[in-house]
Amino acid sequence: MNTRVIHNKVFEPFIDEEEIKAKVKELGKQIENDNRDRNLLFISILNGSYVFTADLLREIDLDINVSFLKLASYEGLKSTGKVKRLIGLSDDLSGKTVIIVEDIVDTGKTLDQVIEDLRKQGAAEIRVVSLLIKPEVYRGSHEIDYKGFEIPNDFVIGYGLDFDGLGRNLRSIYRTRD
Ligand code: IMP
Repeated sequence: MNTRVIHNKVFEPFIDEEEIKAKVKELGKQIENDNRDRNLLFISILNGSYVFTADLLREIDLDINVSFLKLASYEGLKSTGKVKRLIGLSDDLSGKTVIIVEDIVDTGKTLDQVIEDLRKQGAAEIRVVSLLIKPEVYRGSHEIDYKGFEIPNDFVIGYGLDFDGLGRNLRSIYRTRD
């Protein structure tokens, strides 16, 4: 894997396609085994989670529903600290086990906001799966039930994650350190 230059910034290879594939499979099987006989609704947080969601759900051999929620909390390399809900949720969540699908959890602000909204909508049980977690900066109030890779506080792109709109289509994950 070679380095990539996006918006004049150099990104170096970090997690390759095969490692991601193996991890996604493992997470899928874990979720499948833990959640049999539940009324399952996956809520994918757009935009970054679209690739992970597509791969993860195809590793789960259960009857499941999926919805998409769109938020934005990042501009460029630094979090703006503001979490905005852009697209609301119309599903009735009463009696459902909701599994939130995140590409990456950073400070946890986005996640806290999503969980609060889902609780208001009456979700019976809420679980979270995130492909990437930055434990050094995580300040959220909810335990991440299914963790993919714990990573340092570097900015990463690829596999759905972007830097100012670019990089989502990369098959592997890359990082920049400055
Ligand atoms: P949080 O609210 O601070 O946890 O930020 C979560 C959101 O910020 C994610 O859903 C991403 O959209 C974005 N984000 C956080 N870290 C990164 C990163 O390293 N690369 C790309 N996007 C990121």
